[in-house]
Amino acid sequence: MKPSVKISAVCGLLLSTSAAYAQAPSPSAQAPSLENMAQLIAQGKYLAAAGDCSGCHTIESGQVYGGGRAFATPFGTLYSTNISSDKQHGIGKYSYQQFVDAVRNGVAPKGNLYPAMPYASYHRINDHDMQALYAYFMQTKPATQPNRENGIGFPFNIRMGLKVWNLVAFDKATFRPSADKSPLWNRGKYLVQGLGHCGECHTPRNFMMATEQDHALEGAVVNYLNAPNITAKHLTQTHWTFHDLAQFLKTGQSSKGTAFDDMYIVEKHSLTHLNDHDIAAITSYLLDQSQPSQHVELQPTLTSLAASQFDTTLPGYGTYMNKCSGCHGQSGQGIPNVAPALKDNATIGNSNIFNTVAVLNNGIKRQSYSQEQSYYAMPAYKDSLDNQQMADLITYLQKSFSTQMTTTTVKQVADIKKQLAND
Ligand code: HEC
Ligand code: HEC
Ligand code: HEC
Repeated sequence: MKPSVKISAVCGLLLSTSAAYAQAPSPSAQAPSLENMAQLIAQGKYLAAAGDCSGCHTIESGQVYGGGRAFATPFGTLYSTNISSDKQHGIGKYSYQQFVDAVRNGVAPKGNLYPAMPYASYHRINDHDMQALYAYFMQTKPATQPNRENGIGFPFNIRMGLKVWNLVAFDKATFRPSADKSPLWNRGKYLVQGLGHCGECHTPRNFMMATEQDHALEGAVVNYLNAPNITAKHLTQTHWTFHDLAQFLKTGQSSKGTAFDDMYIVEKHSLTHLNDHDIAAITSYLLDQSQPSQHVELQPTLTSLAASQFDTTLPGYGTYMNKCSGCHGQSGQGIPNVAPALKDNATIGNSNIFNTVAVLNNGIKRQSYSQEQSYYAMPAYKDSLDNQQMADLITYLQKSFSTQMTTTTVKQVADIKKQLAND
């Protein structure tokens, strides 16, 4: 199909269904012109990045939007599905209403969706953005990858159980802007709570596995890593500036550290594709600061220039000099294109040492965003540092490079390593 033919086909689809969907006839039910349609598709593509659809629906070795990413659930392994425009394996046959039901309400033609698909957050996506997403998804390249059978050994139909979950745990909140805040702040709130679905990882869950809205963004453990507290209060206490946070979100690195693991996937597929205005909006909302949407200087700062005072009598000093300083610098100042600064690093500065132990234990695989932006891999020290050495090293890191002055115990390290070993 030629692109223009494809576009007009999507146009027709949107029209035939959007009229039925709208409660009352709205101006958006007017036939979009081809030019408007192309614009709508471009907006949809951007919004799909803001929603990180490909982060979950595309795997490294697979076709774009072909699905197949595994999610561990208490009932077994679940796989994301093919959401390309392919009519057999994907969602190419979905009407607008079916698309809306799946993305916003978690109800697909095959039944209720497992909440690994973040529809509780996507419920806040507005109508215009839903239409743009639909227009975009109906013309993506068809992926011929068949869906994987789920490895869920539930004694009865899991999708019926999910219907109950939807009734009791899904609060169906729509987006409500705050009247006393700036448009930029509210744009940030819309993105964080809706498409960005930040709370799916950063908000703790109750016994029903529903996110606890009273504790929004206060931090939670996901996939054996701590998604830290990113409330304005905590970010301010841990000295994140507007500039550092905007830079971390836009590039995945800053003088407060780099994004890794699940956060790296969010960065790579989603946040690094957002424009400066939206990055400023998210930053403004997270820090609860009203800043004008000025251009944020986003060239990655690879190192923090300030050298630190270090206590050479601490037992972790020798380990640091031997094993870490070659990449992270003798005073934790980092080395451009090699490794980030550890001085003022947010992971080390967190009073919860979970992620520091996880990183030292498991290392970080080589991560790259583009040809200009990449780091070495961070080695794993699971086998070369015992619990005592790791505890001493963390004490040294915190006392030298952060404002945490506590001493890490062997028991703390052992407990966290036990949790990591269960992964
Ligand atoms: C955090 C991971 C995650 C993200 C992000 C995500 N999805 Fe999903 N999605 C899933 C999983 C897992 C399923 C399958 C759930 C099931 O089978 O119960 C799914 C299912 C779907 C379905 C139902 C398909 C079918 O087979 O009927 C649609 C449509 C969909 N996603 C669209 C999207 C769109 C559009 C976005 C971006 C705005 C998106 N998803 C982002 C994980 C995700
Ligand atoms: C071969 C170089 C190398 C060595 C040696 C090394 N690291 Fe790293 N480290 C890295 C890189 C590169 C990253 C960032 C990886 C990324 O996010 O892509 C990193 C990340 C980290 C992080 C996570 C912080 C963040 O924001 O990304 C911590 C903590 C850390 N290193 C501590 C250490 C300690 C302690 C040692 C010594 C036991 C050490 N590293 C040895 C390269 C190294
Ligand atoms: C799939 C889970 C997941 C999602 C979704 C997610 N995060 Fe994260 N985030 C993490 C994890 C895990 C870490 C810890 C690793 C690191 O520091 O990179 C993290 C770290 C961070 C940090 C660094 C905080 C610190 O103190 O080190 C910030 C800031 C952040 N996320 C913001 C966001 C924002 C904003 C969104 C939504 C646009 C978001 N995250 C969505 C999992 C997630």
